[in-house]
Amino acid sequence: MCGIIAYTGKRQAAGILYDGLTRLEYRGYDSAGIAVVNGLRLDYVKRAGRVSAVADARALSGTCGVGHTRWATHGGAEDRNAHPHVCGKFAVVHNGIIENYAVLKRELTDMGHSFSSDTDSETVSHLLSSFYRGDFLSAVRQTVEQLRGSFALCVLCSDFPETIVCVRQKSPLILGRAKDGMLAASDIPALGGCREICVLSDGQIACLTPADCKLFSFSLAPLPCKFTASDLKSCVAEKKGFAHFMRKEISQEGAAVVRTARAFDEAEARRLFGCVPYAEAFSRIFLVGCGTAYHSALTGARLLEETLRIPVAAELASEFCCRKPLLGRHALVLAVSQSGETADTLAAARLAKQKGARLAVLTNAGYSSLARLSDHCFLTEAGVEVGVAATKTYAAQLAFFYALCAFLRGEKAAYLRRFPAIHKKLSEGEEQIRLLAAEIVRARGVYFIGRGADYASALEGSLKLREVSYLPGAGYAAGELKHGSIALMDGDAVVVAVATGKALKEKMRTSVCEVRSRGAKVIAVTPFDDIPADHVLALPACPQKYYPLLTQVPLQLLAYHAALCRGLDPDRPRNLAKSVTVE
Ligand code: F6R
Repeated sequence: MCGIIAYTGKRQAAGILYDGLTRLEYRGYDSAGIAVVNGLRLDYVKRAGRVSAVADARALSGTCGVGHTRWATHGGAEDRNAHPHVCGKFAVVHNGIIENYAVLKRELTDMGHSFSSDTDSETVSHLLSSFYRGDFLSAVRQTVEQLRGSFALCVLCSDFPETIVCVRQKSPLILGRAKDGMLAASDIPALGGCREICVLSDGQIACLTPADCKLFSFSLAPLPCKFTASDLKSCVAEKKGFAHFMRKEISQEGAAVVRTARAFDEAEARRLFGCVPYAEAFSRIFLVGCGTAYHSALTGARLLEETLRIPVAAELASEFCCRKPLLGRHALVLAVSQSGETADTLAAARLAKQKGARLAVLTNAGYSSLARLSDHCFLTEAGVEVGVAATKTYAAQLAFFYALCAFLRGEKAAYLRRFPAIHKKLSEGEEQIRLLAAEIVRARGVYFIGRGADYASALEGSLKLREVSYLPGAGYAAGELKHGSIALMDGDAVVVAVATGKALKEKMRTSVCEVRSRGAKVIAVTPFDDIPADHVLALPACPQKYYPLLTQVPLQLLAYHAALCRGLDPDRPRNLAKSVTVE
């Protein structure tokens, strides 16, 4: 999704902003731009395409500026829709959605403003211009009063050549203090080099000058501004000899799992569940998330329900708010999100709080909006994930659920310590996976099936393959096939059958026979040697409940190699963003 970077200080801004934009590239975007105040003039460059398309912006002169990577929502990926949006003395970069932009645009047009883009964001620069009477902050205050929706804004005004005004409402914005100036960014990795940071809260305005930051409420009441020390060096992403971040991050899963299990916060878990027996703390538990996080929630819900013997359901965050879930003070909502910024998950978390449920969060981003909203925050220790497809964060989320359930049973999840060695062994099968990937890219559709705990793995394997290789397909509960989707099976279909459940083996054998007899080729991902598949990706034997952790390794590698076979960049799948900050 869109990324923001801003700098005011002693050095030339454009190079710093350009560098910041390259660090935000992993979020997914389709255009980029930079504006700087040059004397009392605004200079800017913005274009559709990659950050490198605005490389010439590095020559812009000025020590105060803003940069942006845009992921198109309102208006296509065109130069004129890229940010910054400039109107009169103001340049604005915006993340989020201005929900009432159509009304505002109509009013501004009636007042004589003419718009040059199709975006919701451009209304902000026009509002600023229309309210401005020489007082920068006051124009921002009046503008913000008009806006509905979510917005992180960084604003330049050419009358104030050293000042950036930042606004946060339901879209993340973090301030950073560097040796030679102040920065603001939508995302921690863009603040590499800052020694101190301050995470803005919703409803705050910050006024940045080279050596100072003043904080205000939306009504301009002064607020205390506290920066905390932070070591952001580790956020600089490198491929370390791997061809892609996705492959590097798959290789880091062993370490991510061990770190997450080791860092499991027992004290926080005790605070959350409060009493022994833990099963009495809540009458029901909802795990909410999107995409891959939802798939880990499916596994987490199974494990938790087995452990606590109370109703535990995994829910798609985007659907959770579309019904009336049974929330209240005896309900626990555990929101799962690697980024901690996913708008749908945030909306579900807000609903939970509003209805009086307890809110816990599992995230890889301790500074994120979800972490700050939660009553109880648990962290995965996956490290920064740059590839758009979630890999090591998924493994780390599963590790958390194993650690949590072990804690609730009064045990330790000792098996997780063995995972790095098992991961290494699974990766040794990569050549076989590469050859299979070359085969499946010829299929008309690739369908993943599984029963029981393997159903979530099938959904995740399918999502991973679709997002990085664009191969059509879906994940199904194996038992559901015969209720409709078996109509898809013919000689052009490939089925990936995940079969790890001992008690479900015979049923999976039947499903495999059913699809093969209709001509589909079957790849089984299984520890068993008697699944009648065309190819077998063998899993080592392990305690039954840990198979989802093992299964995802060959499935992620299959997706990765399928993308390579199709000549695609798995780190930057089309249309996708690392952090989905719009609902
Ligand atoms: C898939 C993927 C997405 C995310 C989803 C939720 O590989 O990355 O499906 O899992 O957008 O993101 P987070 O976990 O940041 O809430």
